[in-house]
Amino acid sequence: MILVTGASGQLGRAIVERLAGENQPVIAGTRRPVEGSEQRRVNFDEPGSLDFTGFTTVVVVSAGYAEDDVVIARHENVVAAAERDGVQHLIYTSIATDGDHLGFALAHRWTEQRIQGSTLRWTILRNGLYAELFGSLLAPTDGVVTAPFGTGSVAVVTRADLAEAAAIVAAAPERHINRVYDLVGSNTISAGQIAEEAGLLYRPASLGSRRAALDESGLLPFQPAMLLSIYSSAAHGFLSRTTTDLGDLLGRRPTVPGPTVRRVLEKQQVAA
Ligand SMILES: NC(=O)c1ccc[n+]([C@@H]2O[C@H](COP(=O)([O-])OP(=O)(O)OC[C@H]3O[C@@H](n4cnc5c(N)ncnc54)[C@H](OP(=O)(O)O)[C@@H]3O)[C@@H](O)[C@H]2O)c1
Repeated sequence: MILVTGASGQLGRAIVERLAGENQPVIAGTRRPVEGSEQRRVNFDEPGSLDFTGFTTVVVVSAGYAEDDVVIARHENVVAAAERDGVQHLIYTSIATDGDHLGFALAHRWTEQRIQGSTLRWTILRNGLYAELFGSLLAPTDGVVTAPFGTGSVAVVTRADLAEAAAIVAAAPERHINRVYDLVGSNTISAGQIAEEAGLLYRPASLGSRRAALDESGLLPFQPAMLLSIYSSAAHGFLSRTTTDLGDLLGRRPTVPGPTVRRVLEKQQVAA
């Protein structure tokens, strides 16, 4: 039996759907399960909710969106519970190798080390930047994209491809024991290229002006720095590394991400 955590989130839900579609025995782990469904309560912040008895494979979708100490404590709880309850294989969704300069890299790398030093068999899926997130960070104003991506190119990937890759690994974990996959694109795209394709101007602002805007936007205290680290990493060439790992796992070419990025960008124009 396979357990997928974060199953109400976008990535976790897509992994569960893929596995269920292939008639794999899967249970959705979520903080707020719907009664009477194939769901199980799983909240990494509450060790008492972590009972993995009977699950051979657990797909741990990272639970970010918090300060490092909070994320690390969450992930410690989930790995310790998997060890205690006799899980055979833990699959963890991490961040791309090229993402070491991202503000949330430390918690991911800590978690990878914790898993690799555990008693479990494991597979680390180093997920690249979502095409959906890249599109949302382009945020045009009056037909102009000012996001501070400079001339940097990014090897973005669609969330659906990453979900499919995770489901493939979870369905046959014995083929992926103690492997690290760098699931970034096999090509790159840039903010300027996407803006041009969408018929918009691209005039990248400075990191400082974007930080000032983010500081005033009501985000949680840790969020502006994390978002800035995405812009800065991309602008300075740290998210441009391509690999063939994703295509190799999928057994096909990864989805071309441009249309997904443009769709998200165009939605923001409509909303603005
Ligand atoms: N590669 C990228 O570009 C990128 C971008 C953004 C985030 N991420 C990371 O990838 C993860 C999955 O992405 P996503 O798009 O699915 O994000 P999402 O839609 O925001 O879903 C995140 C899910 O994480 C789960 N979660 C949060 N706190 C938790 C806790 N204390 N215990 C257990 N689960 C918890 C929740 O699942 P339930 O609601 O089911 O409890 C939540 O819905 C994120 O959590 C983040 O760590 C990656």
